[in-house]
Amino acid sequence: MTEPEFPRVLGFCCRWCSYAGADLAGAMRLQYPPEIRIMMVPCTGRVDILHILRALELGFDTVFLSGCHEGDCHYLAGNIKAKKRVNKLKKDLEAMGLEPERLEMFHVSSGEGPKFAEVCREMYERAVKLGPNPVKRKAQAA
Ligand code: FES
Repeated sequence: MTEPEFPRVLGFCCRWCSYAGADLAGAMRLQYPPEIRIMMVPCTGRVDILHILRALELGFDTVFLSGCHEGDCHYLAGNIKAKKRVNKLKKDLEAMGLEPERLEMFHVSSGEGPKFAEVCREMYERAVKLGPNPVKRKAQAA
């Protein structure tokens, strides 16, 4: 399968909740754009700022983290730390000239397949609205 040029969306999904939510969305045959790539992580707290920056550098147009609801993280506060990290990075992205809307944090449980599909559609629509990631354009021009 060849990768689409645009839009490309990456979701870091916690294995305990959102990854199962993605499975449920599939089992329910809910529609969401096929351009979404999902990476399972043990907890959103495990996702480092460098992972997100690397995803943007590699050309993903929007990136999201999807973890357990607050109070449900298997590692207690991983999702809270991830949310803080995402909010800080959004400000840094803006300072770097990138739209902060290219990054978002969501909370989706294993029983929320429809919500997971909605998150995917939202990040896809954001990518379409924002246009191609300028970091990718610069990398291709170099
Ligand atoms: Fe799911 Fe931490 S275990 S976000």
